[in-house]
Order: sequence, then structure tokens, then C-alpha cells
Amino acid sequence: MAPVTAPIETARDANEKAVQSTLLNPRFYTTDFDAMDRIDVEPVRKEWDLMMQEYEGDNNHDHFQRDAAFADEVALLMPQLSPEMRQEFLDFLVSSLTSEFSGCILYNEIRKHVTNPDIKQLMTYMARDESRHAGFINQSLRDFGLGIDLGDLKRTKAYTYFKPKYIFYATYLSEKIGYARYITIFRHLEKNPDKRFHPIFRWFERWCNDEFRHGESFALIMRANPHLLRGGNRLWIKFFLLAVYATMYVRDHTRPMLHEAMGLETDEYDYTVFRITTDISKQVFPLSLDTDNPKFRAGLSRLFEISKANDAAKEKGGVFSYATRAVCGIQAFWTFGRLYMMDTLEHELPINTRMAASW
Ligand SMILES: [Fe+2]
Ligand SMILES: [Fe+2]
Repeated sequence: MAPVTAPIETARDANEKAVQSTLLNPRFYTTDFDAMDRIDVEPVRKEWDLMMQEYEGDNNHDHFQRDAAFADEVALLMPQLSPEMRQEFLDFLVSSLTSEFSGCILYNEIRKHVTNPDIKQLMTYMARDESRHAGFINQSLRDFGLGIDLGDLKRTKAYTYFKPKYIFYATYLSEKIGYARYITIFRHLEKNPDKRFHPIFRWFERWCNDEFRHGESFALIMRANPHLLRGGNRLWIKFFLLAVYATMYVRDHTRPMLHEAMGLETDEYDYTVFRITTDISKQVFPLSLDTDNPKFRAGLSRLFEISKANDAAKEKGGVFSYATRAVCGIQAFWTFGRLYMMDTLEHELPINTRMAASW
């Protein structure tokens, strides 16, 4: 298998990259389907049924098709990318596709294994959306001759087991942070069209409304089962918030060119995304991370420094590499622990859960 930092030059490299399960790469998940089957959404029935109507209305059914200008823009813009920038963009496409497809597989597997009509219906709609998203990204990879074999990926990538409640915390956050990322990029490029170096970004606005709605679904499930938001579970919420934010921060800072090419400063972009995600997550989580606290920010940049040192040691190889990487592991664990011990901000939950995607 190719090293984590190996360039993507052939379809084989792209497929190998998608299969990798490192700390920073998107993973595939499986869960306890019987427990999923027992989920009751009756306490939020009114909001739930309205959401189902939105899914059924499928306002994005015709969105994921390329327009006439797409191929021309690709032909004009892609040769202008530097080799380094091209690598970062390919890496972005492969990891975005993997993460879209991860949702597609998980939702589809839940759909197949449950009889509970509410959960089955929801999973059918969400799998439909994620399959469109993954397919649309794969078309762009094919422009480079780097299409991913999704059937093969489904068979060969490792699956991580998560209890349903961890699926709810993690997936809720990844859907909402996905929305926040896409809308921040879209709004920025709306104002700076000369920085739009690939046509795919024109699709982001309607695309991220799908992600927003997926997040709403998990918010309703959690609000219908309020024990998931109380007591010891608060510690899990805090853990997932920090894990998701820290992973995004380190990954984005590892490929800063992508944001710079759009005229975005990576640090500022990440903290904007955190702020939006925190505002949204108040619909369901009783606590949030104090991301504007200088101590929090120092902790995240420390995690990035450690990750860089770890990658450098890996690249160098040899006997000392293992020792250096072990030290990095301990340092990362310690830094994460200190971030985890920081005080959180507390919130009252609103009466109505649903929110409009108004960013
Ligand atoms: Fe998606
Ligand atoms: Fe989604």
C-alpha cells in the first residue's frame, strides 16, 4: 500500500488513497442495526413529518448534472494548476468522495437492516442524496482519469463499528460541518468568482442544503431521545465535538494551498466554519466548545505542529522514526486531553429543533 503522503498520479493511487483508514482519512462505519430499528421519533412527530415531505419533494433531483460550461471550465482551468496544487485538489476530491460514499453505505446498510418505517424511509432518502454526491465527485475524478471503483471500495475498505449514539453524534456533526464548509466556500467564491478554480464549487450551495437536512434528521432523532443529551453522554458530545473540529483543523492545515488558491486564509476559514457549526449545533447539543478562546486555538495549532513532526519522521524512515512518532503520539494525546479539559459553553435547547439553512 502507498504511503499516506504518496502523490495521486494514477487511478490505482486514487483508489489506494480512498481505501486508507488513517486518523485523518474518512472512514466507513457499521452499527447495531437492531438498536437502530428501535429508535422512536414519536416525540418529534410533527417536525419529522414535515422533514419527510421535504425529502420526498426532492428539490435537488436535477441538481447533480453538469451544465454545458462544465467541460470548458475544466479544460481551461485545470492546466493552470501547479503540480502541488493539483495534488491537493485531487486529495480533496478523493477524501470528499470517500466521505460522501461513507454516508451512502452506512445509510443504505441501515435501510436494509431495519423494519421501523420512519428510520427506513429516512435512510432511503439520505442514501439517495449521498449516492448522487459521491457520483458527482467521481465524474470530476474521471476527468483526470482517476475514477474510483466504488464497488471495490465498498468491499475492501475497513469498517469501524460505532454504537448508534456515537453514529448520531458523529454523523450529525459531520453533516453540519459539511454544510458549514461548503456554504463558506460558496459564499466566498460568489464574491470572488475569479478564484473559482474548478466548476464543482458552483454546485456547493444546493448541495450543502442536502447536508444541512441530513443533519436536521439526526438532530430530531436526538431530541426525540433526550437521554442522549444528558448526564454522562455530555462527555461523549464534548469528545465528538473536539475530535471532529481537531481533525478538520489538522487536515485543512496539512493542505493549505487549496484554500489559499480560493483566496481564503486556512485559519480564518476553519474558525468561521467552527462558529457556524457551533451556532447550528445549539439546536441539539447543550454544550459547545469555546473555539475563540486563545488557549483552545493554541491547542489546535500545537496538534498541527505535532502532526507535521509525525509526518516528517514517517517520511524520513529509519530507526529514529519510530521513536519520534511514538513521542508525537504521546504529545498529541496529551494536547488533546488538555483541550478536552477546557470549560465548555452551556446552552438551553430551543423548543423547536428545526432550523433554516440561512448562512
Ligand atoms: Fe453528501
Ligand atoms: Fe450528507
